[in-house]
Formats: sequence, C-alpha cells, structure tokens
Amino acid sequence: MLSEKMEKAFNEQLKWEFYSAYLYLAMAAYFDSINLPGFAKWMKAQAIEESVHAMKFYNYINERGGRVELHEIEKPPVEWESPLAVMEFALAHEQEVTRRINNLMNLALEEKDHASQIFLQWFVTEQVEEEDSFGSIVDQMRLVKNSPEALFMMDRELGSRNIDFTALSQETQ
Ligand code: FEO
Repeated sequence: MLSEKMEKAFNEQLKWEFYSAYLYLAMAAYFDSINLPGFAKWMKAQAIEESVHAMKFYNYINERGGRVELHEIEKPPVEWESPLAVMEFALAHEQEVTRRINNLMNLALEEKDHASQIFLQWFVTEQVEEEDSFGSIVDQMRLVKNSPEALFMMDRELGSRNIDFTALSQETQ
C-alpha cells in the first residue's frame, strides 16, 4: 500500500509526464510550422515516450492500491525564437524532470518504501539517457548556429527516428 505522501507525489509526477508529452507535441507543432518535419517527427516520438512514462506511473499507483487522480495540465508555449531555443528549452525541462525524479526517490527513501525505490530506479536511468539525447542535439545545434544547410541535414537525421507505439500499447493493456 502506498503512503498518502507517496500517492500524492506520484500523482503529481503522472501529471508532469503528461505535461512533458504536451510540451513536446507543442514543439512538434512549432517545427511543423517552420517546415522542419524531421525535428517535428522526433518531437512526436518524444511525446509518445512521455505518455508511456505517464502510464507507468498510472499503473504503478494502481498496483500499489493507490488512487489515480488526474490534475489539470497547463498550456505549453506556442512559439520559440529559433529551433535552437526549442531544444534548449527541452533540455532545461528534462533537467527539471530529473530533479523531480530525484525528489521522489528521496521521498521513497525517507518513507522506507522499497518497492517505490525499485520502480523509480528505471526513471533515474531513463533521465540520464533523456538529458544525454537532448544535450547532444543542443551541442550540435550550438556548433552550427542555426545554419540552414546544417539544420536541413539534422532534420533528415532526426526524421529517421521511429515512433515506438509498442511500449505505449503494453502500458495501456
Ligand atoms: Fe519522462 Fe523525458 O522524462
């Protein structure tokens, strides 16, 4: 059984993961609006991945006898100054997610909730990957400074990312 504190914190994180999906979809819409379909596809794939993260929290709260409570999701930004500004915003967002996951882990340790510590371990590892993938894109973009040719090349490369619906279908069964 989840403690009341843990249940509240997990429900908050469930919302945060759905907000991440919403944010990345807003970024996809921005990229679509400036004709960078590869960047847009990459962001759509990221939005699906965030929905998977949200569903992991949903399922875990349920499995532990907690009550899922959906909170209001705020409106993400619509416009950014440049493609680089989008990726910098996304990287800062992932750093904030990492901070929140670490806080959840601290709470699970405080509460001596071993099952939640094991559950959260997956997210601790995932955040290392998330920060790394956004960080590498930001580094590359800073290097080429929004040069149209380089952006076009990156757009083709990012567009090759597959959208993986398998994990989402597994989490929603
Ligand atoms: Fe769910 Fe990108 O962290």
